[in-house]
Amino acid sequence: DRSVKIAPSILSADFADFGREIQAIEAQGADWIHVDVMDGHFVPNLTFGPPAVKAFRKHVKTVMDVHLMISPVDAYIDAYADAGTDILTAHVEAGPHSHRTMQAIRGAGMKSGIALNPGTPAEAVEHLLDLTDLVCVMTVNPGFGGQKFIDMTAKVKKLREMIGDRPVHIEIDGGVDPTTAPLVVAAGADVLVAGSAVFRGGSVENPAPYGENIRAI
Ligand code: DX5
Ligand code: ZN
Repeated sequence: DRSVKIAPSILSADFADFGREIQAIEAQGADWIHVDVMDGHFVPNLTFGPPAVKAFRKHVKTVMDVHLMISPVDAYIDAYADAGTDILTAHVEAGPHSHRTMQAIRGAGMKSGIALNPGTPAEAVEHLLDLTDLVCVMTVNPGFGGQKFIDMTAKVKKLREMIGDRPVHIEIDGGVDPTTAPLVVAAGADVLVAGSAVFRGGSVENPAPYGENIRAI
């Protein structure tokens, strides 16, 4: 379905070669580049911070979609704006004032996103739907690529109803592959993050599998 955007997560790319990996995955048809920021506190893993994200930006020609798995968030918003982030997503579980966080993200000139862990109900973001451009429904417990998909179809349907006419994307993150993608798209998702399912079998030297994998989703 061409109206559905594919956002490859560079968490599954070669960490020593992010520039060429981003160029390769965009040449193979990525719609957005998904950047997973982890702090070793909100999630049990560490990735990269604002200086690295700013360096990625030089290679991103599409949309840089930054997923913050960090707590607290607000002190870092300006750094991610300065890094050239297009869409900045924070978790609703990351602190008590997500409403303020969404306002601050938009105030810094970015599109705002709100993410929900699998255990968090759709109602937790209902009060944010006028302040956000994207709701990210996690279909794994965040922290690592390559985990098994957790079925959140009912939550996606409920969110699509709650969103109504508002121009809000529903993004799915975790365990997306050719088997699971149709379930969430049917429920109302329009952006699919995929890491392992997109990068498997390919490399910067042999990028054609990236394109095949994207088209298979
Ligand atoms: C999980 C990350 C995801 C993850 C997706 O914490 O937010 O973006 O890398 O990877 P796959 O597609 O391998 O589940
Ligand atoms: Zn992510």
